[in-house]
Amino acid sequence: MGRHSERGGRTSGARADDEPGAARIVDVHDVSVSYGDVAALRGVSFSAAPGDFVAVTGHSGAGKTTLVNAIAGIVGLASGAIDLGAGRDRSRDPAAVAIIPQGNGLASVLTAYENVLAPLRARGCSPAEAAERATAALASVGLGESGTHLVEELSGGQQQRAAVARGLAIDAGVLLADEPTSELDHDNRERILDLLRARADAGGIVVMTTHDPEAAERADRVIVLDDGLVV
Ligand SMILES: Nc1ncnc2c1ncn2[C@@H]1O[C@H](COP(=O)(O)OP(=O)(O)O)[C@@H](O)[C@H]1O
Ligand SMILES: [Mg+2]
Repeated sequence: MGRHSERGGRTSGARADDEPGAARIVDVHDVSVSYGDVAALRGVSFSAAPGDFVAVTGHSGAGKTTLVNAIAGIVGLASGAIDLGAGRDRSRDPAAVAIIPQGNGLASVLTAYENVLAPLRARGCSPAEAAERATAALASVGLGESGTHLVEELSGGQQQRAAVARGLAIDAGVLLADEPTSELDHDNRERILDLLRARADAGGIVVMTTHDPEAAERADRVIVLDDGLVV
């Protein structure tokens, strides 16, 4: 496992990034990630600022999931640095980054509502606020009537929308969405893309991987990965 810097490897002068209200960023600097002999990312760099909706595309195996997992701190870096800036240090601020993982990552023994609620409670939301946010998030993805269903009773598309609701409800400065529309029909895809767009427009940073050119078109910027390199 390599070093995983939250603050970048570069020398920084004054700790302006600890001041409240300082701009948040995502700065991925020359990041490489390997799984044993497999080099999944090879010197990837990009940055995003509040308001940015960035799409990451590329064929299967190109490194898209590895990139979002690296930003989320789920995988360690072989080299390089990822700076979340502005006091949004993952190790001190659990709301710095939210991830909608590929494959949804929902607990099948819980209801959709409980899946959205649990991380909010874990992050210290009061029961009342967590309930309000979970209800609103499920309604926003069109699952207002389905919250009481167990995940295993939902269709694949409904499960994906529940996972999006969970990610949105966390209300993190940086929202990572790994193929969040892969299971959706046209109308629901547009609904989810509208929500991600709105999150960026409200000052969030959204990084979305996708195979879908029409989904990528909704982003401000597209980063194409090929075999672990930005092309
Ligand atoms: N846990 C893992 N162990 C070993 N190799 C992995 C693991 N996860 C991903 N890989 C490999 O890393 C490369 C990038 O995978 P991934 O980031 O999942 O790509 P994408 O999301 O673009 O399909 C692929 O070659 C994949 O087989
Ligand atoms: Mg992937």
